[in-house]
Amino acid sequence: MLRAAGADDGPAIAAVQQTAWRATYGDLNPAMVDGLDPARTADNWARAAADPARRLRLAERDAKVVGYALSGPAESEPPGVGELDAVYLLPAAHGLGAGRLLVEDALTSLAGLGCDECVAWVVAANTRARGFYEHVGFRPDGGRGIWRGLNTVRYRASTTGARTKRVSA
Ligand SMILES: CC(C)(COP(=O)(O)OP(=O)(O)OC[C@H]1O[C@@H](n2cnc3c(N)ncnc32)[C@H](O)[C@@H]1OP(=O)(O)O)[C@@H](O)C(=O)NCCC(=O)NCCS
Repeated sequence: MLRAAGADDGPAIAAVQQTAWRATYGDLNPAMVDGLDPARTADNWARAAADPARRLRLAERDAKVVGYALSGPAESEPPGVGELDAVYLLPAAHGLGAGRLLVEDALTSLAGLGCDECVAWVVAANTRARGFYEHVGFRPDGGRGIWRGLNTVRYRASTTGARTKRVSA
């Protein structure tokens, strides 16, 4: 199930981030993963949960946080474009449908804010995430960047296009 994050969820989200980043980026940029400070990360997530301009949703299983997604209007795009800033799940929660639920929730929310499109930056070497994004309706739009020394590609999706398994906000 999904639920809104609260100020008390900082440590749980930070723990998921640590494990998910280790699994996703541990081979690509180990220093970045080693450099995550649990207390500071937890504070950052508590602040994000309280930020009215962002949507931070948690995926829970057996009453434990197993994943999260952060979205909101894109800061580096024209008005009317939203951004999926992050979607991360514990490896044990992969392949159970939580990723799709989190993305669909973010797209539905962005559509409600008047954003017709959503962008998501993905590390180019993250083939699992790229396959996932393409499966749920995102397409690479040619944008390229660098994030913490890693090459990234920008994906884009309509927030209002027909998709299967749509969930309500
Ligand atoms: C990428 C990630 C969020 C996907 O979440 P998930 O819960 O494993 O994916 P789901 O189970 O919701 O899959 C949704 C659909 O995508 C498909 N899918 C998942 N991964 C796929 C892949 N690599 N290639 C093609 N299709 C894929 C599933 O088969 C499923 O299809 P269906 O709904 O039509 O049956 C998750 O694997 C994850 O957290 N990865 C590590 C962190 C990461 O890389 N995050 C992205 C950073 S940009």
